[in-house]
Amino acid sequence: MNDTIASLYQQFLSELQNATTEQVLEQVRVAFLGRSGHLTELMKQLKELSVEEKRVVGPQLNQLKIDLETAYQKRQQELFAAQVARIHEENKYFDVTAYKKEELPARTHIYTKILQELEDIFISMGYEIGDGPEIEHDYYNFEGLNIPMNHPARDMHDTFWLNVPGMLMRTQTSNVQVHSMEKKQPPMAIFAPGRVYRNEALDASHEWMFTQTEGIFIDKNVSLSHLLATLQTFLRQLFQKEDLKIRVRPGYFPFVEPGLEVDISCPFCSKGCSTCKKTGWIELLGGGLIHPNVLRKSGIDPEIYSGFAFGMGVERLAMIRHGIDDIRLFHSSNLSFLDQF
Ligand code: DAH
Repeated sequence: MNDTIASLYQQFLSELQNATTEQVLEQVRVAFLGRSGHLTELMKQLKELSVEEKRVVGPQLNQLKIDLETAYQKRQQELFAAQVARIHEENKYFDVTAYKKEELPARTHIYTKILQELEDIFISMGYEIGDGPEIEHDYYNFEGLNIPMNHPARDMHDTFWLNVPGMLMRTQTSNVQVHSMEKKQPPMAIFAPGRVYRNEALDASHEWMFTQTEGIFIDKNVSLSHLLATLQTFLRQLFQKEDLKIRVRPGYFPFVEPGLEVDISCPFCSKGCSTCKKTGWIELLGGGLIHPNVLRKSGIDPEIYSGFAFGMGVERLAMIRHGIDDIRLFHSSNLSFLDQF
């Protein structure tokens, strides 16, 4: 029995030494000191011994139990100390002043995304993408569009005039109409997005710089039905809604006759929601048949050709589509806003 006790103790010590993690240490403890561990097995054998033998072996086994527990606690403390030392070592060179540059992934701005989407739709319908100057002469922004000096329609645009006489920041992308007609002869189909500027008081729906798109189509025998079919096709594609409807009301823009305000049936509800202000319709763009004066001024004979034009605000469109309630967010660099798209 003496030998068994001694060898069990030695075996325990060597297994403790090999245990370098808490989990293994626990396994060793269970194997020796657990309810059905080696020590318990030995204790059971005590029953079979004589009274004299019990008197000798009993205290030896009690001592063994104490020795095993002591050795176990010692090893446990060693492992704990080693772990603390390792953590200290790892953190010894930790520099609390170090700055790790955060790499933010690049993304396309919501405004660029929607412009690309609009352009794609019109390219698929055979349009070419047009462009025009943002610093413009009065003629292209007003005069050539049938808005002569002192015409009341000028008051609708709060214009930024430049120090150079007759020069301004364009207030509408409709200037592209005049440039395009001067340069080309019909047929022409042009879609022209771009920035426009107005001297507006800023609020949730007014910015001094925003984006418009202009569409023009000129050929022989162009009628209002061409305009309506084009807009309906475009808007159904944009809102991915086959049954989207358009509705027109008379509208006044000096460069088109007749002029129309175009509404779409609300793509988000059937009975009325906050986006359509419970009406089921959303006001979206302006358009009409290009005024004969505008064609004539730019060298296109209105007796031979006719055309349609339409225009809309891109931020407004994005606001409706994505439920954005403040136009100022587009130029705000507010990452929590931009990250959503
Ligand atoms: N340029 C107009 C505006 O700023 C929008 C517009 C309306 C453009 C009707 C058009 C049009 O081409 O036909 O309010």
